[in-house]
Formats: sequence, C-alpha cells, structure tokens
Amino acid sequence: MKAKTVFFCNECGNEFPRWSGQCPACGAWNTIVEQTVKKEEKRPSGGAGKSFSAKRPVSLKEVDVTEEIRFDTGLGELDRVLGGGGVKGSLVLVGGAPGIGKSTLLLQICEHIGREHSILYVTGEESERQLKMRAQRLNVNSDNLLILSETNISDILEAVNEVEPEILIIDSIQTLYSPELNSAPGSVGQVKDCTMTLMQLAKGSGITVFVIGHVNKEGAIAGPKVLEHMVDCVLYFEGEQTANYRILRAAKNRFGSTNEIGVFEMAEHGLVEVPNPSELLLSGRPKNTPGTCVTCVMEGSRPVLAEIQALLTPTNFNVPRRTSNGLDYNRAMLLLAVLEKRGGLRIGGADSYVNVIGGLYIDEPAADLAAILAMASSYRDIPIPDDLVAIGEIGLTGELRQVAQLEMRLSEIARHGFKSAIIPKQHRAKIAAPAGIKLWEARSIREAMELIIGS
Ligand code: TYD
Ligand code: MG
Repeated sequence: MKAKTVFFCNECGNEFPRWSGQCPACGAWNTIVEQTVKKEEKRPSGGAGKSFSAKRPVSLKEVDVTEEIRFDTGLGELDRVLGGGGVKGSLVLVGGAPGIGKSTLLLQICEHIGREHSILYVTGEESERQLKMRAQRLNVNSDNLLILSETNISDILEAVNEVEPEILIIDSIQTLYSPELNSAPGSVGQVKDCTMTLMQLAKGSGITVFVIGHVNKEGAIAGPKVLEHMVDCVLYFEGEQTANYRILRAAKNRFGSTNEIGVFEMAEHGLVEVPNPSELLLSGRPKNTPGTCVTCVMEGSRPVLAEIQALLTPTNFNVPRRTSNGLDYNRAMLLLAVLEKRGGLRIGGADSYVNVIGGLYIDEPAADLAAILAMASSYRDIPIPDDLVAIGEIGLTGELRQVAQLEMRLSEIARHGFKSAIIPKQHRAKIAAPAGIKLWEARSIREAMELIIGS
C-alpha cells in the first residue's frame, strides 16, 4: 500500500497539501502537522483467506429490515440517548474528559449485553488485571465478555476475526495506532485512520463498535470534525468533576434524535441511572434568596426543571464583567439589554454572572423569563417565591412569547410540588392548569416583574 504525506490541522482536523503557519480553515496558529497517510482506503482483511466482501449496489426493496437490529444496553438512560438501544453494525463514539466515567459506562453495560451477545473489550489504557479489578467492582462477570489489552489496530482486527464478537469496545481511540503510519498514537492522522478502519469493520461485518475518545481541554475529541463526520453517533459524557452526576448527550445520531439526555450518578459500584433529573438538579436550592429562579426546559421528550442563578453587582472595573455558564453568552447579553431597556433597570454599570445549576446547558428560549427574573431579582435584591416557576420566551421589545408543550411542563412542575407558574399571556384559555398550580400571566417582562418582584 502506498503512503503519501499530507498536512493536518491538529485543531480542526482539516487536511492540506502543504504546510502553513496558520490553518486556513480554522485560523489557529502552529497547529499544522505533517502526517503520512495511506493512499488507498484500507479494507479490513481477515486471516485465513477471509475478507469482507466488496459492496455492490442493491435495490431498496432487497434490503432486509425484518431482522431485529436494535439491542438493549441494560441502561435505560443510555438506550434513550442512542435512540432506543444500540444499533447493529453502527459505530458509536463516546467522548468526554478523562475521569468522567467513559470506561465505567461501557464496561458496565457488558453484563447486560453479555447475556445475549458476545463482546470484545479492547483496552489500550489499562492492563487486563486492572480491567478485571474494575469489572469486579462493577459486578460484571459475563462469560460472553472477552478482554484484550492491545493498541495495534492490525492485531486488534486479527483478534476480531478470530473471536468474531458481536460488540467491540475500544478504550480509547487515542491509544490505537496503525503500524503503517509513522506518526504517534493520538495524532490526527492515526486517530482518523484507526476510526476509518473501525468504521469499515462495523459496516462490513455488522459488528457494533463503541469507541471511547478523550476530549482535550478545548472540549474537542482530537480533531473533532475529523471523527464526528465519520461515525454514526457521537455521545458526549459531561459533568462537573466535583459533582457526582453525569449527563450523556448525543451530538450526532444517525439513528435517533439528538435532543435526548441521559442522567447518571457516579456511585460506589459504577453509574446509577437517574430517571428523575429534576429532583437532582433542584436539590440544595437556596430558599428565600435573591437571584435564583426555576424554569422548565424540554430535554428531548422529557421536561426537566432547572435552576438559573444570576448575580448582578456594581462593577469595580472600567468595563463591567459579564459571564454566562450553561446559557448561551449572547443570549444572556441580549436578555440583560432587554432588561435594561424594557424592564427599566439601570444595569449598564453592573457586573453580571449567570449560571445554570448542575452542569446543564440550556439552549431553549423558554428559559428566557426565568433568566431575566433571576437577574432582576439579584439586582433589586428581592427574592422570587421559592414555589414559583417561570416559563416564556422574551422578544426584543420585552414581550413574552408562548412556548411549546406548556402543559407537559406544567405537569412536571406540579409533580415536584411547585405552587405557581408565570407564563406568557398568549397561552390563556388554551391550557388548563394542573391541580394545585396557580397561573400568573404576563404580556411583557415589565408585567412579569411587577407580579413577581413588585417593580
Ligand atoms: P473512568 O470510567 O475510568 O473514566 P474515563 O474512562 O472517562 O477516563 O472513571 C473514573 C472515575 O470514576 C474515577 O474518578 C473513579 C470513579 N469511579 C467511581 O466512583 N465508582 C466506580 O464504580 C468506578 C468504576 C469508578
Ligand atoms: Mg478510561
């Protein structure tokens, strides 16, 4: 097989014919590295004359879908993020910061999957002994689980051909290398080439491949674009190192929605599912304190309660400091501007810090009202009632706009013992409040502020 030299950007993974100091695609400096890549696409060839047949076009009618292609992982939260379980012959990339629990998650599901399917767990990070100890801790003891401590992709393919597993787990892609390339494991060229080989293996043989990928400090899996467009499904495992719970989110899914999240708690014997994330996200909420407001956002098909906090203080700098965590920065700035102009608060000279509790990232405008009320409450130093939830999108003129699936959100609110909700007036008469919930209706943020914090 011929090899050629190309240049990759380590940041964005784009490929160039020649070196340059600045990446023409992403603009990063000194990130272009020289790599040798194989010229032809490699097809995994099995030992003993076995090889995966070359593909020929088939008519749509011929494609057989009667066979069950989904399988349960035993973790409902993971199944939901995958779109209803694992898909046969797919490649799933599980990304996340080191220590977040990726190996734990994938080893843990082996017990359940192992009841019906054969699994090969390849680790390049730990010895077989270490893996065994971890498996014992997780109560994984399946006869169908084979483990292999190996980093050479050719040797891994050979092992796969020999044991013919139905599920292959690779921990992690950064440790793999192809001997035909002379770059180091973890470099963009290697990661790309090994992923491509695994992808061809998955498609050619019907093996389901789970690949673990470490995320670097910028939050990207070594050359993010490189891998994301190649694989079927990209899951990110997120969470704060200090907190015990973890959120699994799909960034891409060829077989399901990317809106669903899975919530887990890291416990003594591995990850425990959290079927009711609202409770977890609201635990420890301060009572009768200015600057906090609860809202209800839709995470896929599930309503989730989230607490938004804001801190507005007079600035000590020439230019006020403004940060936003868990809420898009530009959205937070826009809400501050609307609050100043339409809400009538003179916050131009205030530092503003916005934070969504629990590492949740909210990208739904329905949370606007809660964010703006938290800001106003902090600025005026007047608490929002503890048993109130705010839902509504805010427009640039300060008007409150209706949100989708309000009834579903209200029943979640009622289920968690809240007593009242402030919602956009447009919803009036269109919905019935669940028992025990008093509805406040407002047309604009002015009205909402008058109702809630009396100004
Ligand atoms: P790990 O799965 O090794 O992380 P990753 O593969 O993403 O790098 O998880 C490591 C962390 O999880 C470590 O801090 C210990 C903790 N942990 C538990 O709390 N309970 C457990 O049962 C296990 C296996 C790990
Ligand atoms: Mg690991």
